[in-house]
Order: sequence, then structure tokens, then C-alpha cells
Amino acid sequence: MRNGVIAIHRDGTIALANDEAYRIFAIPRPADETRRAFNEVFRDRPDVVRALSAAFEMTTLPNRAELRLRDLDRVIGYTLSQVRDDQGCVVGAVMYFKDLTLVEQAEERERLRDRLASLGEMAAGIAHELKNPLAGIEVMAGLLRRQVTDLPDAQTLLADIISEAKLANAIVVEMLEFVRPIRLQMEQTDVREVLHQSVTLAESKVRRGDVAVVLNLPPSLPLVDGDQHQLCQVFTNLLTNAFEALDGRGHITISAVVEEVTQDPAFVVDASDARTRTITVDVTDDGPGVPPDLSDRIFDPFFTTKPQGSGLGLAIVRKIVDAHDGRIDLSSAPGHGTRFRVTLPVSSGSSWFK
Ligand SMILES: Nc1ncnc2c1ncn2[C@@H]1O[C@H](COP(=O)(O)OP(=O)(O)O)[C@@H](O)[C@H]1O
Ligand SMILES: [Mg+2]
Repeated sequence: MRNGVIAIHRDGTIALANDEAYRIFAIPRPADETRRAFNEVFRDRPDVVRALSAAFEMTTLPNRAELRLRDLDRVIGYTLSQVRDDQGCVVGAVMYFKDLTLVEQAEERERLRDRLASLGEMAAGIAHELKNPLAGIEVMAGLLRRQVTDLPDAQTLLADIISEAKLANAIVVEMLEFVRPIRLQMEQTDVREVLHQSVTLAESKVRRGDVAVVLNLPPSLPLVDGDQHQLCQVFTNLLTNAFEALDGRGHITISAVVEEVTQDPAFVVDASDARTRTITVDVTDDGPGVPPDLSDRIFDPFFTTKPQGSGLGLAIVRKIVDAHDGRIDLSSAPGHGTRFRVTLPVSSGSSWFK
């Protein structure tokens, strides 16, 4: 049985609890659990004890309720039922439950995608309309600059106008990049090459200063099915953020490893798909880190903490990684640094030596 089930008698002793129940709630199975007090065996899970014990008192039982196990980072969906004897007296209660963590993660991503879709249409329209007038401002300020060569003050102002128009244009270009439906030019891509190119690109975009960049890569990696140009953008954006966070001093480490993942059997159709090889790339910096309350928001489009930021860098990263059936995770200890982990599936036809 893939679901968990716990049944208790009216006197609070356990009638039955399956292995899945102990696994999901991370409780060691006692040697002989029947007739042991439920609240004692599950004392480390007071929420569960409360939920199931309440089944005796309730007149209407929840059809589907959820429990969040914060320490395990799990979401459990459960239903309760009462067990009655022939006279109709309640003699026991049963909780059926399922680990919803993976389902919940998928739903969260789905919701984000919907939000982005409508926002995207609007943004694409605006960005498109803005591109031409901005280019016009830049060109005309350039022409005017040539007519007032003898006025130093005017020269400075015009130079400022041009650089501001350029900045605005860069944001618009980024925005279009973000909202345009993604079209991947798939090829067998060498992640090592992508990472080397990304370092060069990031350095050309922002000031590197004295930041040390260490690439920790195995001598060869299996190829991934991917769009080389767009994958470069993923790591370029992560690296520009790291450079900006470090502000001229600190360390960035880029590492890549191949991993074998076993997927949750509940989500695999074909058993031969259960094991997949992935490449995990970590981009780690020892900068200020991301405060925990912001970690959910930094991937949102337009979320930025920088005065001149567009807030689109990570939104683009997520979009490209999603399109590659990959994953991106953030872990950060404020004050110690930030690690972005990108996981990409290895191309099924890839051998190590291509
Ligand atoms: N390596 C990092 N260290 C600390 N904060 C980061 C890092 N990367 C991203 N962030 C945070 O995430 C926010 C969003 O990043 P991003 O989407 O690239 O937009 P932008 O760089 O334009 O602000 C940044 O403003 C910053 O607060
Ligand atoms: Mg950025």
C-alpha cells in the first residue's frame, strides 16, 4: 500500500499502522505496536495525535485535510473515518494519508507558470512598444551631442541621457527575452564548455574585481540534450548575480558532478525510467546570502533588491531550466553565501566519451 494508514481503538491504543505510516512520519516502528498507546508511540508527532484523536469528537469528518511537517519539509494529505460497531457506537478511528510533497511542488510550479503566462503577454506588449522610442532617444541625443561640441555641460547631460536610455533598453531586451515563448535549439551539449563560456560572458557584463572564480569540473562529463546558447544564459545570469553580490571581493566555485537519481515510483510510468542520470552544477559564492524570507521570491519576475536591477535574471534562469526538464534549487546561509544548484538530465544517448 502506497498510502499510510493508522487505526486506533476507542481507548487510544493502536489497532494497526502500516510501514508507510511510520516512514512518512519518521517514527521508528516499535517491536509490538498493537495495543500500545498511540499518543505514546507517536509522541514526536503531536499534530498527528491531535488530528486522529479528534476523529472521535467530530460530527463531520474532513474529506481532505493537510498537515505540514515542518521539520521534515513534508506535506501530508489525510482523511479520517470512524469505525462503528453493530450498534452504531464509535469504537475506533482511522486516518488514511499520503505524502503530498512532490504533488505540492508540482502544483506550485504550475501556479507559477500560469502567473507568468498572463504577466508575460502584457510585458511583451509593453517591451515591444518601448524599444523604438528608446532607440529614438539614444540616436537623437547622439545627434544633438555633435551639434553642441562647444558646450561641456550639455555634453555631460547628453552623455547621461544616452547611458540611461541604454540601461532602459537593456531592461527591455531582458524583458522580451523573458516573456518570449522558449524555443530550444536542441543539440548534444557539453556542460563544461557552457560553464567556461558563461564565466567569460559574465565577466564581460559586470565588474569582476578581485573575485576568485574556481571551476571544479571532472575531466569529462556526459552530454546533455540542450540549447547551448540558452544554457550559457542560465549560468551567465547566476554568475553575474554572484559577482554583483560579492561586489569586487570573494570567491565563486563552480562544480559539476554526475548523479544517478532514483525517482519516486509513484511518478514513473515505465520502470526503466526509474533511474536517470543527471548532471548537477553548483554555483556557490561566499557573499551576503539570500535572507530566508526572500528565498521564495527571488525567482519571481521583477523581484530585485538592486537599485538598477531588472529582477528578470533568475526568472529567465528558471524558465530555461524548466524547458530543459531540469531543476534549480537555492540554498543560502545569510552572511555565509549562496549556492544555486542546477540539475539537468543527461541525454539518453550520451556516453561518457563522446
Ligand atoms: N548570489 C546571490 N547572492 C545574494 N543574493 C542574490 C544572489 N543571486 C540573486 N540574489 C537575489 O535575487 C534577486 C533577483 O535576482 P535576479 O532575478 O537576477 O534580478 P536582478 O539581478 O536584476 O536583481 C537579486 O536582486 C538578489 O537580491
Ligand atoms: Mg541578476
